[in-house]
Amino acid sequence: MEGKNNTDYVSEIKRMKTEKNAIILAHYYQSGDIQDIADFTGDSLALSQKAASNDAEIILFAGVKFMAETAKILAPEKKVLLPDLDAVCSLADSCKPADFKRFIDENPGRTVVSYVNTNVEIKALSDIICTSSNAVQIINSLSRDEKVLFAPDRNLGNYVLNETGRDMVIWNGTCHVHEEFSLEAILNLKKQNPDAKIIVHPECELPVRMVADYIGSTSGLLQFTKKDPGKSYIIATEPGIIHQMKKANPDKKYIPAPPKDSTCGCSECNFMKLITIEKIYKCLRDEKPEIFIDAKMISDAQKPIKRMMEISKKLGL
Ligand code: 13P
Ligand code: SF4
Repeated sequence: MEGKNNTDYVSEIKRMKTEKNAIILAHYYQSGDIQDIADFTGDSLALSQKAASNDAEIILFAGVKFMAETAKILAPEKKVLLPDLDAVCSLADSCKPADFKRFIDENPGRTVVSYVNTNVEIKALSDIICTSSNAVQIINSLSRDEKVLFAPDRNLGNYVLNETGRDMVIWNGTCHVHEEFSLEAILNLKKQNPDAKIIVHPECELPVRMVADYIGSTSGLLQFTKKDPGKSYIIATEPGIIHQMKKANPDKKYIPAPPKDSTCGCSECNFMKLITIEKIYKCLRDEKPEIFIDAKMISDAQKPIKRMMEISKKLGL
């Protein structure tokens, strides 16, 4: 099979999925060819929900490590595969367990709410997890007098603080992809496309969020373009999502927001894009690399994730 083209790999992947009772879960930031072979595509929340409820024996995660870890935590009896273990998340990796523990100790008496974009050790230190889809609702579900410690994304944290008016201390982390969008370039695009709506992921910086017509998770942005009567959009998130937007409404215009450095191509998540069709083929064939997490860590990290899942279910999210 070595040296074959994507079509050969795709048919082999399909055959092995059936033979091994495996499913492929793909995040919206994956390339279009990967999203098209997946059994399920979604944002972090939807992918976690799918990982927790399916009949497969093997989950192959086309995404980054914290997503595959979350799947393993929610379905510890299943084999969870990640085609490239270097597909990490720089935001998650910027929050180290020892530093996070110190941050919690320095801010006692606060409910620890962590974004799903964290490694398993951070989840295990948290009271409740959220994603960009449900962060506002999760914080609003806490009692009014509860003080919150939020980590690791300061932009999402500040967005939630603004929306909820809660007492929050926020870890100073950011996503290198979402921090890179240029307000100036977005406003120039808006001048050239006055009818285009600016739609923005909450991991973007405040000046970009301030010019947004809509702010939401990847699923939220996709739903917005589906339901909105408009015809064109400037999209400030990783451009992988545009694949689904085009599939849903091929006649609309989708303009990726440019990064500050126009030569770097850094509006793409380099970690997400490490996953390729060839790596998926090899991973499914060899059933490795596999995600392993020790039982105690799974149990500690499961509690705050399950709390999020229960609240999301209750709220119909
Ligand atoms: P979503 O929760 O919108 O899927 O975002 C995940 C992510 O990694 C954003 O950078
Ligand atoms: Fe992490 Fe940013 Fe990539 Fe999302 S886009 S996976 S937050 S590095």
